[in-house]
Amino acid sequence: MTNFPTALRAREYAWMDQDPSIYFNAASVGPLPAAAVAATQEWARLRERPQHIPLALMQGAAATARAQFGALIGADADEIALMPNTTYGLNLAARALPLRPGTILTFDGEFPSCVYPFQALGSRGITLDLIPRVNGLPDEDTLVQAIEQRDDVVAVVVSWVQFATGFVADLERIGNACRAKGVFFIVDGIQGCGVRPIDVHALPIDMFASGAQKWQLSPWGTGFVYVRKELITAIEPHDVGWACMKSSTDYTRLTDYEYDFFDDARRFEVVTLAYQDFAVANAATGVMLEAGVANIAAHIEALGDQVVQWVQSRKDVRLVTPADPARRAGVFAFTPDNLPAMHDRLRAAHVVHTVREGAIRFSPHLYNTSEEMKRALAVLDS
Ligand SMILES: Cc1ncc(COP(=O)(O)O)c(C=O)c1O
Repeated sequence: MTNFPTALRAREYAWMDQDPSIYFNAASVGPLPAAAVAATQEWARLRERPQHIPLALMQGAAATARAQFGALIGADADEIALMPNTTYGLNLAARALPLRPGTILTFDGEFPSCVYPFQALGSRGITLDLIPRVNGLPDEDTLVQAIEQRDDVVAVVVSWVQFATGFVADLERIGNACRAKGVFFIVDGIQGCGVRPIDVHALPIDMFASGAQKWQLSPWGTGFVYVRKELITAIEPHDVGWACMKSSTDYTRLTDYEYDFFDDARRFEVVTLAYQDFAVANAATGVMLEAGVANIAAHIEALGDQVVQWVQSRKDVRLVTPADPARRAGVFAFTPDNLPAMHDRLRAAHVVHTVREGAIRFSPHLYNTSEEMKRALAVLDS
């Protein structure tokens, strides 16, 4: 794509050229592209008079969402269940996988979505062990050794990209260790999904959950979980509702009470979906697929290179995120000696960022330019 991201930014994020702020906060909330704002307005108008919304339009929006979310990660539509966010997908993994009593492993420092749903399994004789950090980063060697050497491990859950450090886990390595021991492998994908290429079919991943509200540039309350094809009919939903059942597509059969789950991942969709929000998500995901995940990743990597080079030029700033592009995605964290001063300077210059776990976090996306990154780094040098 020759003029990526300039043309896309002009079309989808025209406000960014008029607004004083530089938006480096996709790791918290992704801004809706113009196509998604238009879809919001269109669906609000439809929803005002629901009699004009054919069932096929609602079901079509859901089907498109499954297909498009799947396309972001190399999954088929029938392996995708629509969810309101990441944590529901992770709870599904915690509750629906046939876990025997034993230990689940994760990294210390993970976002709590990888922790609480699994800590909640104590009454089933399952405990969660945290692999301690080394120099503030996940210790993948120790995790893999534990999977290989211990016989009590029943599942591993990690985030693909960590929320605070930006560390990218080697899903192939961890997954292979899990597969060799018959251990379930569960991934929280929200901080990487859509901005880093992945082919879940080529990886030993059992379940992969992502909310779409951040990097996927979609409304709050949208997300999905991928369930590996062979697992879908082998497990049953933990929460059971009318929407899990085959009969839910035919409103004339509702009171037949046929207890027969869908044979695809729709069996994990429990209730009436947020059709409106998924329709908006479809517009956003369409923009991302048009740009191409690999192109987005390359663009963000170049923005990250600017951060890495800048940190390396400063004696008073330490890079938290690994410098190696294979180990970073869109989250760039660094700790200046005088963090409050740099935080204030960025705020005064309208550089939208966050502070997480004692580090400044930049999370640029497809709409940001290298010029913006240069300006933000110059603010820190001033
Ligand atoms: C790694 C990770 N998982 C999950 C979430 C959010 O979870 P949910 O989508 O369930 O609200 C975040 C948000 O910051 C996150 O960084």
